[in-house]
Amino acid sequence: MVLLDGKQTSNNIKQEIAVEVLKIISKGQRPPHLAAILVGSDGASMTYVNSKVKACERVGFNSTLIKLPENTSEEKLLNEIKHLNQNSEIDGFIVQLPLPKHIDEDKVLLAVDFNKDVDGFHPTNVGKMTLELPCFLPATPFGILELLERYKVETSGKNVVIIGRSHIVGRPMSILMSQKRPQGNATVTLAHSRTKNLKELTLKADIIVAALGIPEFLTEDMVKKGVTIIDVGITRVKDASKKNGYALKGDVHFEGVAKKAAFITPVPGGVGPMTIAMLLKNTLLAYKNTTQTK
Ligand code: GUN
Repeated sequence: MVLLDGKQTSNNIKQEIAVEVLKIISKGQRPPHLAAILVGSDGASMTYVNSKVKACERVGFNSTLIKLPENTSEEKLLNEIKHLNQNSEIDGFIVQLPLPKHIDEDKVLLAVDFNKDVDGFHPTNVGKMTLELPCFLPATPFGILELLERYKVETSGKNVVIIGRSHIVGRPMSILMSQKRPQGNATVTLAHSRTKNLKELTLKADIIVAALGIPEFLTEDMVKKGVTIIDVGITRVKDASKKNGYALKGDVHFEGVAKKAAFITPVPGGVGPMTIAMLLKNTLLAYKNTTQTK
């Protein structure tokens, strides 16, 4: 069994980006700049956004974190987005999801200038991705493709089962892996909560992407020997033995499934760090897109 080490791989990517930033600065230009908007104080979201900001510092990017209270109006948030769209010093920005219930997420994502949409969530970027046009790929699927590439996991002609049809992970993953591209050309099945014969499907799968958000859902009896497992889940589960009171659990029962897997991502330290590295990669791309057209 080979562990798909997202922490190490993301560090390698960050190192590659840091080298590019040094080159940019040595030419007397400003470094790339990522901004993030966080609405409310959800613990997990705060952790993710702080990790993103810290990653910017590590590679030499500028970063701006805009923290807004939970009761921020939709209008106020849309106004912040407008300012970031207009600010030529900001190359890319993200609005951390989920948003409070009183804010229309679709409206917010549509308000982001798609040229600065480094999360790849704007309908224009989703459309371009689907049509295989140059665009920002959503960071988590992009990170999974990168991990498969760097560990040379063959995908062409393989049976891939993706569990979960979210707009952020499952759906784009299913589109990307079915395309004619490196880490694509797979026969993809997108399973979800209404899928009837899931175990039959997963037992035939060469690669399984678990992205449904149910801790330890995928068990040893559901997979075949030699399978590649990508675990996107990261749920906080109460654990009194931990200092912070919770443990992080993936969607895969690691101990059982790892016995049968050829490749498997750990949680934490698998897909999560890759998402952050690819967000930085997208920000560098946004920077290059604008500086090349200046
Ligand atoms: N919430 C969970 N994953 C993500 C992500 O990749 N980007 C943003 N903006 N919010 C998220």
